[in-house]
Amino acid sequence: MLNTNLSHGDYLYLDLLKRCVSGLIYEDPSVLGDGKFDLLHRVHGIDRPLYAHSMIGIKRLDNIQWAVEHCMKANIPGDFIETGVWRGGAVILMRALLKVYGVTDRSVIVADSFDGLPPPDPQYPADIGVHFHLSDTLKVSMEEVIDNFRKYDLLDDQVRFLPGWFKDTLFSDTIGQLAILRLDGDMYSSTMETCCALYHKVSAGGVVIVDDYHIDCCKKAITDFRNTNNVNDEIMPIDYSSVYWIKQSDQLSQDYMTSKDALCSLGVKKIYQSVPDYVEAIRLFDMAANRGSIEAMLNIGVLYSHGGPKVPQDLVKALMWLNIVTLQAKGARITTVHQDNVDVAELVDRFRAAMSPEQIAQANVLARDWKPYAMTKWW
Ligand SMILES: C[S@@+](CC[C@H](N)C(=O)[O-])C[C@H]1O[C@@H](n2cnc3c(N)ncnc32)[C@H](O)[C@@H]1O
Repeated sequence: MLNTNLSHGDYLYLDLLKRCVSGLIYEDPSVLGDGKFDLLHRVHGIDRPLYAHSMIGIKRLDNIQWAVEHCMKANIPGDFIETGVWRGGAVILMRALLKVYGVTDRSVIVADSFDGLPPPDPQYPADIGVHFHLSDTLKVSMEEVIDNFRKYDLLDDQVRFLPGWFKDTLFSDTIGQLAILRLDGDMYSSTMETCCALYHKVSAGGVVIVDDYHIDCCKKAITDFRNTNNVNDEIMPIDYSSVYWIKQSDQLSQDYMTSKDALCSLGVKKIYQSVPDYVEAIRLFDMAANRGSIEAMLNIGVLYSHGGPKVPQDLVKALMWLNIVTLQAKGARITTVHQDNVDVAELVDRFRAAMSPEQIAQANVLARDWKPYAMTKWW
């Protein structure tokens, strides 16, 4: 039952929790600067704690509490997600808030590579020269984050882990409506991918929090995304680094980005553009395939069967995808970018004829083991 009247003890628990996850209690040193504990730095999330479970500081933890309480008081539907969790302190606080308020119908989604940040991708020039991927202190395994949840006795099935690179995980249909989207991925790529995958899922009245607005590449991603999508909601400061806004409308052209058919047709466009980009085409097809697009699966198979720029011919992968199609849609006839009305079974026979028994066996195993990426429960 929703507990709208918190007791004094509830407030004390939340206050103590924030002091614990930020390390204010035990004053652990910073791995940045002169290495000493500095109270002001810790309150404002300026340092990087050696042991504490969050680096975002008290002000941003207070902002999370405000955001959660706002969503509950205003009945804003949806789950809470943080993209970029490090040791998990911020999401641990979200889960604690749900518990204190007795909320059982919302989840906290914990999205991270659990292996640090990605190297800069040349398609995002704003990230050139950014070296976060070289930092070992930003790499925290999923086991460690799970263990941290357990230490606070807050690990249960209202916590969902989404391990992997944002570009591969956040477009998943298994993420539903969101009340809070907290972005903490530092880079242009990570911020833009999060916005493209999830912004349209934030309910009207929900809260979007950007931890790294003071970092140029992150701020540019936010500015580009807001400009492209006519997002004009007022940006409110939290501290020297972070901002939030309340989403006023949930109509967005980004809906287009998420439908499997749209992703598939974007992949087709990448093949036919003046300089074909087969790598990007496969990435888009793969996302569409993971949402169940049979057409995208077939397109990947056909693409691997002949190869193209930067994508070598790979008959095993080609047959694997056709086998997946066959498993999902027996007797399918599908139009590919190269041919109308393809009989998939005939295509499979043609491929097999050109392959060794070992290759065929390998493709069969890969197809059998293929699963669309989905939320994982890890306990
Ligand atoms: C600054 S830390 C997050 C701090 C955290 N919110 C806290 O409370 O201390 C950034 C995190 O984002 C993750 N990350 C950044 N870009 C990513 C991407 N593209 N895919 C997956 N994880 C990413 C990193 O692994 C790292 O854990």
